[in-house]
Order: sequence, then C-alpha cells, then structure tokens
Amino acid sequence: MYSTKIKGVGHFVPDNVVTNDDLSKIMDTSDEWIQERTGIQERRWIEDGSDENTASMGAKAARKAIENAGLTKDDIDFIIFATLSPDYFFPGSGVLIQDMLDMPTIGAVDIRNQCSGLVYSISIADQFIKTGMYKNILVIGSEYHSGALDKTTRGRGLAVLFGDGAGALVLSRSEDPSKGILSTHLHSQGEHAEVLTVKTPSIRHWVPAIIAAGEEDTSYHPFMDGQKVFKHAIVRFSEAIDEGLEANKLTAEDIDLFIPHQANLRITQFVQRRFKLSDDQVFSNIQKYGNTTAASIAIAMSEANEQGKMKDGDLVVLAAFGSGFTWGSVVIRW
Ligand code: ACO
Repeated sequence: MYSTKIKGVGHFVPDNVVTNDDLSKIMDTSDEWIQERTGIQERRWIEDGSDENTASMGAKAARKAIENAGLTKDDIDFIIFATLSPDYFFPGSGVLIQDMLDMPTIGAVDIRNQCSGLVYSISIADQFIKTGMYKNILVIGSEYHSGALDKTTRGRGLAVLFGDGAGALVLSRSEDPSKGILSTHLHSQGEHAEVLTVKTPSIRHWVPAIIAAGEEDTSYHPFMDGQKVFKHAIVRFSEAIDEGLEANKLTAEDIDLFIPHQANLRITQFVQRRFKLSDDQVFSNIQKYGNTTAASIAIAMSEANEQGKMKDGDLVVLAAFGSGFTWGSVVIRW
C-alpha cells in the first residue's frame, strides 16, 4: 500500500467583491445582521454578463494546483470534481474541466455532496492512490452560487451566506507512510435531505430562464432550515473530528491546523471552543468569501499554504458538514 500526500494546492475567486452594504441596497438586510450571525463581511459573485462559470473557475484553480505541485497536466491520471452548482444537468462539470485543461481521455467523476463534497473527494482520491490505481489525482471544488440565489428580501436568509469560487488539490502517491492522509471518515443521513435543498435544476441553463419569466414557483432557489442545519452541524463537526483523532490515537492538542468547511463563523467558533483550540490552530476565511460550499476547504487550504501555515510534519485536520445531511473528516500529516 502507498500513502497519499497533498502535493499541490490552488484557488481562484472572481474579482467582483460584493460587500454586505452592497446587499443592503438590493434587499432588506444589514452589515450588522450578517456579521453578527455569520462572520461574513464580503463575498465574490461572478459579475452579470461574464462568461465565467463553475467549470471555468474550477479549471483556473486546477492549473494553479498543478503548477504548485511542480507537475504538468500530463502527469494527472484522474479528475474528481465536487459541486452543487454544475454547469449542466448532465454531463457533470468534471469532463468540462478535463476538456478545458486539455487532458484527453483520463477519467473524470463528479461528486454531488454539497458542503462535504471536498472531504468526500479527498477520501475517494486517497483510496485510488493507496491501492496503486492512480499516481496523481486532481481534486477540484467549484461553486457558482450567485446564479441561482434569490437576491430579493424574500431570499435574504440564504443569499447573504453564499459566494462563488473554486479550489483545487493535487493528491499524489508517496512511499513515506509517516506522512500524508492518515484517515478519512464519511457519513450521511438522508432523512434530513429536505432541510437544505434545491429541487429544480440546473443553474446555468434552466434557472435564469425561469427567473426571467418571473414565475411564482420558487423551487429553483435554495431552501434552508438554518436553525436545524446549525444544530446538526455543530454536533456532526465535533463527532467527525473526534472520530478522526481517535482513529489515529491523537488528541485535539496534537492539531496544528484545523481547516473546517467555511459554513458560518459561529459554527467554527463553537467547534473551536469545544476542542479548546487557539485562534492560531483554526483557519477561517469566510469573512472574505462567504460560504463557497464544495470549494471552501480547498480555497482555505490554498490560502493557508500561501501564508505558510501548513509546515512539514504538521497535523492538519479537515472537517465538513452540509446538505444531505453529509459530513466527514480528513486527518493529514503534512
Ligand atoms: N438580513 C436581515 N434579516 C434577516 C436576514 C438577513 N439576511 N435573513 C433572515 N432575516 C430575518 C428573518 O426574516 C427573521 O425575521 P423575523 O424574526 O421577523 O421572522 C429573523 O431575521 C431571524 O431569522 P432566522 O432565520 O431565525 O435567523 P437565525 O438567527 O437563525 O440566523 C442563520 C440565520 C445565520 C442562517 C442561522 O440559522 C445559522 O447560522 N444557521 C446555520 C446554517 C448555516 O450557516 N448554513 C450555511 C450553509 S450550510 C453549510 O454550509 C453547512
């Protein structure tokens, strides 16, 4: 058996910054309400009329991750792509990214696990690498939320939370068992599927037409029972971290950096208190980007790497919870 190390990281976010004050001009909300409940100060939204999309952002993040890994596109054996905002109802955007990156005929799969998508993708890539099937796998998360949000007062409960962006990782075969991904744990509970959902696809081609038609039907906008999500998130985040630590005979004191899915600063702070982690041990960038769902952990890892926060031998813990419900954790010796 081989082990899996994260060899490269990269991210891309659209240039267009949307502040809380900008939102308060188009819906009944305020900077104070948003910051107090979520920690979010601003997010990036693809500008109206731009031809940027889920796949194009993913491809840009992927190019950076491949370069950061010191590899070329020809070294990549497989693509795992996570999103809840695919460009088409089908095919998945993984193949669109494969085409944009000019990687002919390697396999590409889409993972539809929302906020947990990146953790699931890392776990799947880890299995393929450990068993020797592939050497270098590109894992990408990308979200184009702004195309489907209800940007009126009716949709303010959700519209203020989500941002657009993409992050990517290159996972590679390693012969050193003391480093790399130590464990992954995945869970789901479909009985809560309706608590955070979009029922009518798809973002790029169907939804804009329905919105333009001014239909009364709002099933194409995301729906969320925010309080239920909050209550489950804090429990499941904690369980997933405990599970990962116990499997490796580690404790919270061993964590050098905790990178949670950037759902909500209050959720992160709750988990931080529960595990008695210092501010230095926790990475947050939700203040700048909002919740970028499947992209959030990869964007955070890419920024943490740029800031030199993941050093050789550090214990890095990832955890996510989201729609499904689905949740999971990844423990990495960097
Ligand atoms: N601006 C101003 N007022 C608002 C806004 C807004 N953007 N959104 C809702 N309100 C109003 C509501 O209409 C309501 O008004 P009312 O009392 O007159 O009816 C009031 O604020 C309270 O609304 P709640 O939905 O009860 O607000 P709550 O305090 O629960 O905060 C929030 C909402 C932030 C979503 C909270 O439930 C939460 O943190 N949930 C966790 C879920 C989460 O963070 N999800 C992220 C995505 S999922 C994931 O990544 C795991």
